[in-house]
Amino acid sequence: MKDLTDKIIIVTGANGLIGREIVKELLDRDAIVVAADIVYKAAESLGRGVRLPLDLSSNSSIDELIENTVERYGRIDGLINASYPRTKDWGRYYFEETPFEHWQKNVELQLNSVFYINQKVALVMERQKSGSIVNFGSIYGIVGNDFTIYEDYGGSSPAEYCAIKGGIINFTRYLASYLGKYGIRVNCVCPGGIWDNQREEFVRNYNHRCPMKRMGNPDDIAPLCLFLVSDGAKYITGQIIAADGGWTAI
Ligand SMILES: NC(=O)c1ccc[n+]([C@@H]2O[C@H](COP(=O)([O-])OP(=O)(O)OC[C@H]3O[C@@H](n4cnc5c(N)ncnc54)[C@H](O)[C@@H]3O)[C@@H](O)[C@H]2O)c1
Repeated sequence: MKDLTDKIIIVTGANGLIGREIVKELLDRDAIVVAADIVYKAAESLGRGVRLPLDLSSNSSIDELIENTVERYGRIDGLINASYPRTKDWGRYYFEETPFEHWQKNVELQLNSVFYINQKVALVMERQKSGSIVNFGSIYGIVGNDFTIYEDYGGSSPAEYCAIKGGIINFTRYLASYLGKYGIRVNCVCPGGIWDNQREEFVRNYNHRCPMKRMGNPDDIAPLCLFLVSDGAKYITGQIIAADGGWTAI
């Protein structure tokens, strides 16, 4: 992989399952990381980088993150959107029961915030005439759910998730097309299910369905994000790349 030394990379959802691994691997490769998450309450140093508070449900909080990053470091080389804001009742409803307000609020949190942060970071990158943005989709932005994996225990997966992730995927293509002239690349990483102590029945069914017979781990996803913000990917844009053990291949 090409060098990431001194690249200024913002990671949202930096304290999450996947975000933590991305931050660790970026720091290992001497990038300067702006780790942003709602759990951080104040700026705090992080190696040569910084942790900054971010609430993606607030446009002014996104503005502050970007202003703060540009004030500190003068530029933004990469943005990795690994956050996962969602309402407290996430995953509770079958399709028929899903309250409209639940759909609407999650679209606002997960899709509208992606529009806003991409727009504001792109303005900085347009001035620089360079930059790389990595959005996060999911296998469920590429294909519909296989509901048989939830059958043993009556679980489900939210309807809006497919709509949100499908939206982020094609928004990524739009941005790649529009921003290419500024030297800005925009790609979308689509993880398969990541192991996080899920119920045994779910894991068994998931593994059976997945060609590689296992769930993913954060270190299956982070290196792809690092590659996409590196100069090794300098001619790659508008791509939707699944790291899913083959889930979307069948
Ligand atoms: N985990 C999986 O199985 C899986 C599968 C496919 C796709 N993905 C995608 O990968 C991305 C990361 O998922 P994850 O599993 O690491 O999620 P996670 O829940 O472990 O972490 C998400 C992070 O986002 C932060 N966050 C929540 N609300 C926020 C807000 N309003 N403002 C700022 N930060 C906020 C949380 O504090 C947390 O640190 C998401 O886009 C998710 O859809 C995950």
